[in-house]
Amino acid sequence: MTSTLSWELARASGLTSYVLMTALVAMGLVLAHPAAARLRRPRPATRLALHVSLATFTLVFTVLHVVVLATDSYAQVGWLGVILPMASTYRPVPVTLGVLAVWAGLVTGLTARFAGRIAGRIWWPIHKVSAVAFLLVWGHAVLAGSDTAALRTFYLVTGGAVAVLAASRYAARAPRDRVEDLSAATRVGPARVESRPQSGAQPRTQQGVLR
Ligand code: HEM
Repeated sequence: MTSTLSWELARASGLTSYVLMTALVAMGLVLAHPAAARLRRPRPATRLALHVSLATFTLVFTVLHVVVLATDSYAQVGWLGVILPMASTYRPVPVTLGVLAVWAGLVTGLTARFAGRIAGRIWWPIHKVSAVAFLLVWGHAVLAGSDTAALRTFYLVTGGAVAVLAASRYAARAPRDRVEDLSAATRVGPARVESRPQSGAQPRTQQGVLR
């Protein structure tokens, strides 16, 4: 593969991964948003399946982004540079933001696999580290990309949209989250999910989904 081609591939996969991660975080905020209980479509099970699929595809394109950069000597990143902070010769600080985002994303993604099984609610506070991962990715994309000037509006709109959605989700209710719903929903097989009643409302039951 020529250096130009691999550089283009690294940028294309990075941008694809960024778009997927933006959708992933937005879908996560919608899943946990108290107002989402009023949404009929897509169904909660579909929303959760979409969230999990987006996580998988984000991982796939991130791996492509990272492997292409690690194997392209022209990129001056190297294998150490994609694993360790400050080990890249090319823009060490912006690249380190990407490295830390991958580690944070792996921790949040892997612990979520155990939601509803072991360690009770522990995965839930850990899962919120994904907000930090998004911030790191945003900073990484803006500072490491060679085309940031051309993409400025794109980064402002996508970053702003996630910030507004996050503010709306956390302003809507103190984060006493519907964590049982989400934990139960990630158990294997159709599971019955009891939602906590809201301000005097009757408990509601829904079919949970699974992986
Ligand atoms: C080990 C982790 C990572 C490393 C070493 C890394 C490295 C790099 C490098 C060297 C660039 C500069 C490419 C250029 O000049 O255009 C870059 C750009 C970029 N990366 Fe990463 N990255 C990592 C993780 C991520 C992740 C997790 C995402 C998204 C979820 C991401 C999204 C992007 C984006 C959107 C760009 C800008 C592309 C452009 O505008 O040209 N990166 N990355």
